Amino acid sequence: MDFKEQVKSSVDIVKVIGEYVRLRRMGATGRYSGLCPFHQEKTPSFSVNQSRQFFKCFGCSVGGDVIKFVMDIEGMTFWETLNLLAERNGIPIPKRTEYSDAESKLRGALMDMHALAARTFQANLRSPQGGEAREYLVRRGLSDEMIEAFGLGYSDPGWDSLTKRFSAEGFSAELQESSGLVRRRQESSGHYDSFRGRLMFPIHNESGKVIAFGGRAMSSEEQAKYINSPETPIYRKSYVLYNLHRARDGMRHSNRVVLVEGYMDVIGVYAAGVKEVVASCGTALTATQVRALRRHADTVIVNFDPDTAGINASERAIQLLLDEGLRVRVLSLDGGLDPDEYAKQHGAEAYRAKLESANGYFHWLADRARVKFDMRTSEGRMDAFKFLLPSIQKISDRLERASIANDVAGYLGVETGLVLDQLKRSATERRAPVPQTPAQASISAIERILLTALLAGQDVREQILPRLSAQMTEAFQTREIVDVLRQMAPADGPVPFEALEGRLSPAAQSLLHQIIAADDTSDETQRLEHAHACLRRLEADRRKGQIDGLRARVKSAEGEGRLDEALRLMAELTKLERDNQKGEGL
Ligand code: GTP
Ligand code: MN
Repeated sequence: MDFKEQVKSSVDIVKVIGEYVRLRRMGATGRYSGLCPFHQEKTPSFSVNQSRQFFKCFGCSVGGDVIKFVMDIEGMTFWETLNLLAERNGIPIPKRTEYSDAESKLRGALMDMHALAARTFQANLRSPQGGEAREYLVRRGLSDEMIEAFGLGYSDPGWDSLTKRFSAEGFSAELQESSGLVRRRQESSGHYDSFRGRLMFPIHNESGKVIAFGGRAMSSEEQAKYINSPETPIYRKSYVLYNLHRARDGMRHSNRVVLVEGYMDVIGVYAAGVKEVVASCGTALTATQVRALRRHADTVIVNFDPDTAGINASERAIQLLLDEGLRVRVLSLDGGLDPDEYAKQHGAEAYRAKLESANGYFHWLADRARVKFDMRTSEGRMDAFKFLLPSIQKISDRLERASIANDVAGYLGVETGLVLDQLKRSATERRAPVPQTPAQASISAIERILLTALLAGQDVREQILPRLSAQMTEAFQTREIVDVLRQMAPADGPVPFEALEGRLSPAAQSLLHQIIAADDTSDETQRLEHAHACLRRLEADRRKGQIDGLRARVKSAEGEGRLDEALRLMAELTKLERDNQKGEGL
């Protein structure tokens, strides 16, 4: 068995996908469904088929095996995906150099360099040279446990200790530069460390590998408070959320996540016992990040800093979260404190109580509106209401929408009549065409049953295919698939998917995915019985077609006085009808 087959046969697609998407079991048939992680949707059209080890989304029509899923969701190459799955399942990995493509090699080396850097920074922090940094952490109230849990470290203030370390390990200058951890000197030749004398926060991807760092200055004299890794082949800022890999389990359990602004906030909230907390890494929140959140929880509690930048960022984040269909609450802490400071000053319990009491985003937005507009005039109050209107329109439930509109109007002191007016007006504007997901061609039950049987095993194919004439499948929507199956060499067991898929047109591939995803039979005998029943139906249909045709010919021969011919056709007809009765009795 080659490496890929070995990996595929040792993992279960439901378990793997279940770590990225909340899946619900559909009946007892090994079929699961959930919200598609690859497009925005509010009702699940993403389906995973355990017996086929296959996934398919009926909304955006992505589909494939477990490897395809992990490649797409992690943005990894084929070999990285194999390695990741192998590693998680204790399968020995063949030497990277023997197998992988250039891109996987590059990314693999960058990952190795980041792991090495993280270890080095951590060792520095524990060593005598980390004394000042340790003191700083104590001052900020970080326990050893948190320092350990978050893998915090310290970068050597000298110019090139990490650079030297990389060189000693045999990483080329080119690799070092593309890691973002090392820079080329401008004036003279040589390289130097990007992070020097800073407190180091490792940033992980969703599978828990270090892919970047944030480095905090320890004195306020430093020009930049934080320096973050640049984008590299393994680090795309708009995709990554700080702490997501540690937050995932908590998010699943509580069905919520706390979104904060900074690394320190994440650690502070986590230390207060709320593990479902994440931050974007010093950039504005993106739709991709929001989708990553939505895979694990429905509610987001936005808890940004109470300064102007934080407030503006909250406004943007709220809109984005609503657009992606999440439920949003906002926590603004009193005393101008950020989450980290609040938890330190008032204690973990007080912070958690605040979180529980966080209001829906409307209250927060309404308060924003009261500050922004002149509430003494009726125009100002109306403007404030209009400021809130887009968010009100995003509420999909009509009754809830009307009730919140009334609440808000009351809170802002706007007349109810005007409110209803505005709601109606914007509802008409809103009725612009909504983009529809492409209509799914529905496959007839007969085709579906026959094909799932044909895909199941060689013995089934041997029984069914010879009886399935080209004429019978002529009108099949899935004719192309059947034709390819007819041409394919006999194989033991289920049809090798890639081989089949590779020979199909995109349209037929999509049909194939649909069939596989809808396959909920677990009983192979039943599958075969159903297939035979379908065959009998098709055969009967064919005979009926022939009989009807003959009858028409008899009639026209009689009508035109060709009696010899009519008699001959009658005899044929009788024989066919007799056969047919026998056939139906089968
Ligand atoms: P403390 O100030 O130590 O409590 O850290 P913090 O994590 O709370 O940081 P802060 O609230 O100031 O900033 C929020 C996030 O923005 C940080 O975690 C960084 O990701 C990012 N950030 C802050 N300052 C800078 C900067 O000077 N440069 C860059 N690139 N990012 C920054
Ligand atoms: Mn802070």
